[in-house]
Amino acid sequence: MALKNKARRKVPLYFDEECEGLREASRFNAELMDVVRARMQPGITTLEIDRLVYEYTTDHGHTPACLGYKGYPRTICTSVNEVVCHGIPDATPLRQGDIVNIDLTTVVHGWYGDSSETFILGDAGPETKRLVQAAHDSMWIGINAAQPFSRVCDIGKTIERYAKARGFEVVREYQGHGIGREFHQEPGIPHYCPRVGASQEILEPGMCFTIEPMINAGTWRTFIDSRDNWTVRTLDLAMSAQFEHTILMTETGPEVLTLTQNGPQQGHKF
Ligand code: MF3
Ligand code: CO
Ligand code: CO
Repeated sequence: MALKNKARRKVPLYFDEECEGLREASRFNAELMDVVRARMQPGITTLEIDRLVYEYTTDHGHTPACLGYKGYPRTICTSVNEVVCHGIPDATPLRQGDIVNIDLTTVVHGWYGDSSETFILGDAGPETKRLVQAAHDSMWIGINAAQPFSRVCDIGKTIERYAKARGFEVVREYQGHGIGREFHQEPGIPHYCPRVGASQEILEPGMCFTIEPMINAGTWRTFIDSRDNWTVRTLDLAMSAQFEHTILMTETGPEVLTLTQNGPQQGHKF
């Protein structure tokens, strides 16, 4: 989601053993999310999760992608409550009723895998649950809209319609991205329907990209915290939730590379 409307470049296509590289990186990232998920409970700090992810990644001989990326100071992004994305782990214990998005990216043998999940700590109010549910469902609706030779904008169109129908807004300033031998590459994947731009692009078999809608309870507008120049918050400080998967477009449809049997599946009820 760090990819803002950059100048248009060529979209890389991946085949055969390249797809195996992509699959392996995403599988590792998904297993790492399984490790994190088992630890998510009130009282844990985002810094503890950060350390856990750093150690698990390096113990397996792999590289955390975010650490040092454009000067980012930690291994993962942890976005609590009104934080939309790029929250920096710190020593504050997570509390009952908080929601936190954990965003993991790993480099495995030169290939990137990227996924995120929003966790509800303990029990949360019905409106918070409804938001998290909508964020998860909208990601899956976007995944299903991504079919071979459909258009990039079909993804955002369906996500935006789904969120709006539930009274939520979709973040516009951060979007999904192509992924492969680079962290962020073409194509950009907006989660709303922009009028103009690169999203007329056709989704071809061999393309690999993320779908990672950030859904806000209030306004879609955001601001960056000037104290760290990373943390993105909703402008009205209302809650925001997000889920992310890495997707490989195949001849027969989208292959979700970062899914494991332990995580929330399509249709999961929070
Ligand atoms: N993982 C984020 C994404 O989904 C990017 C984080 S970049 C960082 O694209 F520098 F903030 F870590
Ligand atoms: Co991403
Ligand atoms: Co991510």
